[in-house]
Amino acid sequence: MEIKIERMDHLGNGIGYLDGKITFVPKTVPGDIVDIKITKEHSHFLRGSVQKIIRPSENRAEAFCPFYANCGGCLLQNLSYAASLTYKKNKVADLLSKVKEDLTYEMVANPKCQNYRNKITLKVKNGQIGYYAVASNDLVKITSCAIASPQINAVLPELSKLNIKDGEIVIRTNQAKECLIIISSKEKIRWEPLLNIPTLKGIIINDALVWGQDYLMEKINELTFKINYRSFFQVNSAVAALLFQKVAASIKPNSQVLDLYSGVGTLALSVAGKAKAVLGIEIVADAVTNALENAKLNKINNVTFKTGPVEQLIKNIPSCYDTWIVDPPRKGLDEITHQAILKYKPQQIIYVSCDPQTLQRDLNLLKNSYDFSQVTLFDMFSYTYHVESLVVLTRK
Ligand SMILES: C[S@@+](CC[C@H](N)C(=O)[O-])C[C@H]1O[C@@H](n2cnc3c(N)ncnc32)[C@H](O)[C@@H]1O
Repeated sequence: MEIKIERMDHLGNGIGYLDGKITFVPKTVPGDIVDIKITKEHSHFLRGSVQKIIRPSENRAEAFCPFYANCGGCLLQNLSYAASLTYKKNKVADLLSKVKEDLTYEMVANPKCQNYRNKITLKVKNGQIGYYAVASNDLVKITSCAIASPQINAVLPELSKLNIKDGEIVIRTNQAKECLIIISSKEKIRWEPLLNIPTLKGIIINDALVWGQDYLMEKINELTFKINYRSFFQVNSAVAALLFQKVAASIKPNSQVLDLYSGVGTLALSVAGKAKAVLGIEIVADAVTNALENAKLNKINNVTFKTGPVEQLIKNIPSCYDTWIVDPPRKGLDEITHQAILKYKPQQIIYVSCDPQTLQRDLNLLKNSYDFSQVTLFDMFSYTYHVESLVVLTRK
């Protein structure tokens, strides 16, 4: 069935209409005219898959990954990079225009939009290693990943020597090209073949270190970070560096900063030079241990960290913090944290978000008490539909 793709949804699927019914077609681009097979018929919508491209959109690009046709990993490869940035900007602007009309947007592009990821999570099913297909749990076997770092790609072929039938494998790397391999599986794993990987620093199986070390070191801007395999770290070190610089530039000199969801201390340590004092709060104990070590390592002594859920610790923090950095997981801020903002009334909130939808919800709750005009977008996750946003809010 022939369909013209008119726009894209927030998950990167093309949208067209068949007999007036909204039809989602993955891996299509606005302007494409395609022949599709209907794969799902719902009373309110249809889903289709492309059989043939009848006339390609002028924004269509050739995918650069040999697994793109089947893999669900990075759906936007058939958009030109410039068009993918426009798509992301429009997607965030559509959402946030419902909160405030006069916002301006700046997009920070990825200096290296392929081979940028320092971490990937692979599924293993029936002895095959790969990613899931689009919107399914069917495994697509891969032997390389075009958005993963060259170091990850060097490790990928070695993984088949593990002979795992089912499980999950995470590879983490740093800019020094070292790697950790983290395996979860119910099977007995013979990990010794991995020792042939010259840059291997550690092997972790079912949450236990079996060889080497359980952390990597990473240098971002002028700071060095120790990162345990359980600790969060931004997946794109080059764009993370630009984000950290922007957060530091947004802080007022001598401010007292609360860094909520502080991870291994990246933002707290990035702003420490300008701030009077910084307190970070983070739920993962290993990340807090790293953050305290990272403060020492970088000879920064006006920063401290506490372990625990923000929603608990926030109830009893001193009232001196005039600047709050919030960098929550995708679910955004919870009700207790919103209440704490209204109670403590920080002068400035620097909101770093990896989910525009929860950012929209949270800004809506804050807009009566805070002014904001600029949204900075960071293309942290190139060729996927994800985008990182930063908004600086000033108390009215
Ligand atoms: C998006 S990451 C940001 C980390 C850090 N700002 C960075 O840039 O590396 C979110 C962090 O929040 C932590 N986290 C998740 N839920 C939390 C909670 N309820 N309380 C405190 N920290 C939490 C995660 O462990 C993770 O380190």
